Amino acid sequence: MPKLGVNIDHIATLREVRHGKEPQPVFAALICEANGADSIVVHLREDRRHIKETDLYLLKKVIKTKLNLEMSLAKDIVKIASRVKPDQATLVPERRQELTTEGGLDLISNFRKVKETVKILNSEGINVSLFIDPDKRQIDMAKKLSVNMIELHTGRYAEAKNIKEQDRYYNEILESANYASSLGMVVNAGHGLDYYNVSRIAKIKVIEELNIGYSIVCRAVIVGLACAVKEMKALIQ
Ligand code: PXP
Repeated sequence: MPKLGVNIDHIATLREVRHGKEPQPVFAALICEANGADSIVVHLREDRRHIKETDLYLLKKVIKTKLNLEMSLAKDIVKIASRVKPDQATLVPERRQELTTEGGLDLISNFRKVKETVKILNSEGINVSLFIDPDKRQIDMAKKLSVNMIELHTGRYAEAKNIKEQDRYYNEILESANYASSLGMVVNAGHGLDYYNVSRIAKIKVIEELNIGYSIVCRAVIVGLACAVKEMKALIQ
């Protein structure tokens, strides 16, 4: 059974809608941990659209499980990661205009930069994972970089238009996961997983951790709404 890493970026997205203090990602992280999350995941984006540097320091101080920082290869982000020292850094591609991470990190075209970044992060005692597409060539490159942990991008599987397409992308993930595992790698997966599509992926034996964010935050709003309205009604009365 895979572990669950909860990505709380969109708690911060909600805060940034009003540039205010609430909701606090650090509170959300504690609730996630108290309810079974095995790690807390955040992405410090170059445009700081949700998580800020200060969130990282707070999170690092209070969380008891594992802080997994998703990050690009940008130099200033690597410097911040070196200061914060999360338990794990997951290297992801990043484009300013994208709504969310599109596709995995291309280890072939970014080989030198990734190698440099991994070296810096490892020297700070930070474990590195590489977010890649379910593709043998990318897995071979990760091996060549001596990185022992990967996260397979499940986005195409999650966005499949029909069952046939979903089967195809599922098989890519299954084969890639088994291949990476046969090379002795730790295999995680994530992106776009929700309450409808997670089961198949969770059944893949070699996958050790699933990182899920958006669907959990969306669900939290819906299942928490009744309670929030009742509390406000009671105060008004
Ligand atoms: N894993 C990685 C590497 C990601 O970049 C993201 C999105 O930040 C996730 C998992 C979580 O994706 P989602 O929010 O779609 O569940």
